[in-house]
Amino acid sequence: MSLFLTFAALLFFGHQHEAHISTYMERAHYFYSLPTTLPTNTTPPKEPAVLYVNIPLEPRIVLKEALHSSPSPSPSPSSSSGSKLIALTFDDGPNKKETPRLLDILKKEQVKSTFFVLGKNAKAYPEIIKRASAEGHEIENHSWDHPYLTKLSLNDAGKQIADTDTIITELTKRTPLFLRPPYGAFDTGIKELTSHIILLWSIDPQDWKIHDSASVEKYIKEHIKPGDIILLHDIHTTSVDAAALLIPALKKEGYTFVTVEELFAGKLGSSEKKVLRHG
Ligand code: NI
Repeated sequence: MSLFLTFAALLFFGHQHEAHISTYMERAHYFYSLPTTLPTNTTPPKEPAVLYVNIPLEPRIVLKEALHSSPSPSPSPSSSSGSKLIALTFDDGPNKKETPRLLDILKKEQVKSTFFVLGKNAKAYPEIIKRASAEGHEIENHSWDHPYLTKLSLNDAGKQIADTDTIITELTKRTPLFLRPPYGAFDTGIKELTSHIILLWSIDPQDWKIHDSASVEKYIKEHIKPGDIILLHDIHTTSVDAAALLIPALKKEGYTFVTVEELFAGKLGSSEKKVLRHG
């Protein structure tokens, strides 16, 4: 049995649902993986902690301390590059039509983002994965075909994760570091099962539901702060349109777009960064 560490948002948990939600929201400022809005199509995680690190190699890193000691930079305008870092993440792709269109936009804007892809879509569109990776984007694991991992046997859940890692590694020559479980749903079993860092998001504009690029852009602009991880889906035309609107708007506000690995690396000390990169 492998050892593992949980990194709870706090060492205490609310016992009542309302207290839980409140803690969940408060912590969102400090812990990147905490949703600031609860997805309506999912039940919230049982614990307020959604950043989980289970790295199979010693020494194990303690992110909690690193994140506490480096709160998000002040949201005041700053011209120095890198002081207002945010990560755009795109889930559920690649999509035959929308992902290449998004890649064109990202290339034009010289912005790097992170794709949480489905293994089955990576298999269907290997050239898109290769292109995204070659253009400097990060490819991470979102399961093989988007089940609730918590409803599968541990064997089947493990296969979902491992098969997706295999195809991504084959195509990009880089093994995913992060797992974003579909619907943000995971439990202790999944945490013990995977060696990935489980990563959710901090801004969810519900682009998959509202299908309106202007509203999605507006929501993100109203809620954005340094250190945020934005959840979008590169399988919807309106979501890609929203990204096209959002990127120049946020650049004007002084934000710099980085991949999630870069975002976390900037929050860790050098020894922790080293471990994270070797994870
Ligand atoms: Ni998804």
